[in-house]
Amino acid sequence: MTSSPSAAASQRILITGASGAIGGALALRRASAGARLLLWGRDAARLEAIAARCRALGAEVAIRQCDLADHGAALAALAEDDLMPIDQALLVAGQGDSAPAGAFVESAEQVARLAQVNFASPAALAADLARRMAERGRGRLLIVGSAAAFHALPFAAAYAGSKAGLARFAEALRLAVAPRGVTVTLVSPGFVDWVGGGRPIPRLLLLSQDQAADRIMAAFDAGIGHAIIPRRFAALRWIDRLLPGAVRARLLRSMAPR
Ligand SMILES: NC(=O)c1ccc[n+]([C@@H]2O[C@H](COP(=O)([O-])OP(=O)(O)OC[C@H]3O[C@@H](n4cnc5c(N)ncnc54)[C@H](OP(=O)(O)O)[C@@H]3O)[C@@H](O)[C@H]2O)c1
Repeated sequence: MTSSPSAAASQRILITGASGAIGGALALRRASAGARLLLWGRDAARLEAIAARCRALGAEVAIRQCDLADHGAALAALAEDDLMPIDQALLVAGQGDSAPAGAFVESAEQVARLAQVNFASPAALAADLARRMAERGRGRLLIVGSAAAFHALPFAAAYAGSKAGLARFAEALRLAVAPRGVTVTLVSPGFVDWVGGGRPIPRLLLLSQDQAADRIMAAFDAGIGHAIIPRRFAALRWIDRLLPGAVRARLLRSMAPR
């Protein structure tokens, strides 16, 4: 595991989705003596477990249960947590999804929920964090999107759409706040420890949790605007753009989970 204690020492760092696989791995990479971590998630037991591991590495840790389905509650929680300035924010939380077997598309309720959890809440949090950081003239934001943002997945329209919105928002926010000393990094992962979907994933398109966490932290610490991981997904994005429409449609439909 690559850690970067110097990047985290004496920093106050918010991580959403810290109870999850990628968020937890990122929390461990930011945990070091002097680092003060604010770990958000919904599952109290998993939050406590990752907090204990971060404390064992020397970090000071506070946890917060927060449901991003309620963006007002999330912004109120941020206002409380940012009374002491947040230096780095890693917005990792998100919900994966695909239409249930036999359905053409996700239900209307699920579409609205994903729009909230994967787009509206992280974008609102990022805007508020960026504003506060810009007022202080420094700060770093990480937004975890998905390579699905670049493909019109017919079986995961809400997921692909919510992550596409988040990607465009992140890119626009980066341009808006860069002159004010705030760095915004968007990372768009492909498959990370992926077992869903009922199809084998080619190893070349798959990252382990540790590989993904290392690459995400490397992009974030380098202040890269947008990283697609693994890089092969950047090539897939180009192929998607260049294919004739009918071929693209057939290919995307054929990828539906079994
Ligand atoms: N794994 C992949 O292949 C992959 C690929 C591309 C992008 N991503 C993105 O990477 C991020 C992390 O994914 P992961 O693989 O680590 O998934 P994960 O293990 O399922 O973790 C998801 C995290 O998001 C949190 N979350 C979900 N819904 C939430 C809500 N309504 N309110 C607050 N928190 C919520 C979860 O909290 P609780 O568990 O406490 O509810 C958990 O901490 C997500 O944004 C995902 O879209 C993952």
